[in-house]
Amino acid sequence: MAKAAEYGLGPQTFPRGWFIVAEKSELDAGPMAVTFFGRDFALYRGESGRPVMLDAYCAHMGTHLTAGHSAMIVRNGKQIEGDSIRCPYHAWRYGPDGHVDDIPYHEGPCPKSASIRSYPVRDVMGCVMMWFDPEGGEPEFEPPYLKMWDDPRCVHWKLDHLGQINIHNIEVLDNMADVRHLGPTHGAPCEYFENEFRSHVVIQRQGGFIQHYKAHLDTVTWYTGPGLLLSKQTFGGVEMVELIANTPVDDGVTKAWHAVVMLGKNAPPSAEDIATQRAAQAGALEAFATDFEIWKNKRAAIKVMQLKTDGPFNNVRKWVGQFYKSREDARKVQEELNGVYAVQQFPQPSRELREKGYEDGLFGV
Ligand code: FES
Ligand SMILES: [Fe+2]
Repeated sequence: MAKAAEYGLGPQTFPRGWFIVAEKSELDAGPMAVTFFGRDFALYRGESGRPVMLDAYCAHMGTHLTAGHSAMIVRNGKQIEGDSIRCPYHAWRYGPDGHVDDIPYHEGPCPKSASIRSYPVRDVMGCVMMWFDPEGGEPEFEPPYLKMWDDPRCVHWKLDHLGQINIHNIEVLDNMADVRHLGPTHGAPCEYFENEFRSHVVIQRQGGFIQHYKAHLDTVTWYTGPGLLLSKQTFGGVEMVELIANTPVDDGVTKAWHAVVMLGKNAPPSAEDIATQRAAQAGALEAFATDFEIWKNKRAAIKVMQLKTDGPFNNVRKWVGQFYKSREDARKVQEELNGVYAVQQFPQPSRELREKGYEDGLFGV
């Protein structure tokens, strides 16, 4: 298990960006104790419906705000008040901003030093996403959003929870450059390929015949920050968008989710539309599972032994590195990288294919 410093990503240990921390339905079921970025968090939904994410431990005596379910205040359904939460030990109340605003047995103002950190968190396409910034800054870009999600024909995904793997997420992101694994790993050798870097977004466009679907497949795949991949895939008259999300749990440990969304023929979607989407997601998961199996069993590639005819791993890694640097240094990386890159021996996609993604408003930049 290699760490951020070994890959030379730093100076930060964890990256800035939007990351999945739960599926919406999990949070709807009640407060959660979650661990990401080497820290523990309390995640709950306020009565207004707003998701709230706080550092986990109460300033008073260090109780985890959401790890237990047996305290009477929790069992009586009295822990959440509006969008605030009471500690299950002595009922200090934390607002969604992380400040203590009520101590039941204390008169006068609550101590300011009791405040804990609150994080930007949102419901996005059935996922609960947090903005993480090791320097504590506000979001500098929006999480990705697909217009099709609001189409009445849309069959919304349920996430595949893939669990944790002991691999740094940079090796997952390597896939963006990895033109040469598409044939051997996925049975879909590439016929054209390019990468484009647009500040906090990296795009991959590629296509070729895919054995699994017995059809020509075109994909436009993009990361919005280092944690959220969407991939629009078109083959044999089918159009779907795949989600692959990774969130660091600890340095060198990654949690992953997967899903597929597509439009049905009916509004609202019929049982058949839903069955088609579920089958598409299962098929895509099978393809993704081959990557996952490789990542699970490989040793770390601290440096890629990169041939001139490999994909541009070094550029993708440079792009990933920006999220581990100060915003000022990140901008320097962006200025250096922004643009379109071809790979030796591969034609680039037609202009139409390239422009379609922008027309569809896919990348949000
Ligand atoms: S430990 Fe939280 S209120 Fe006492
Ligand atoms: Fe792959």
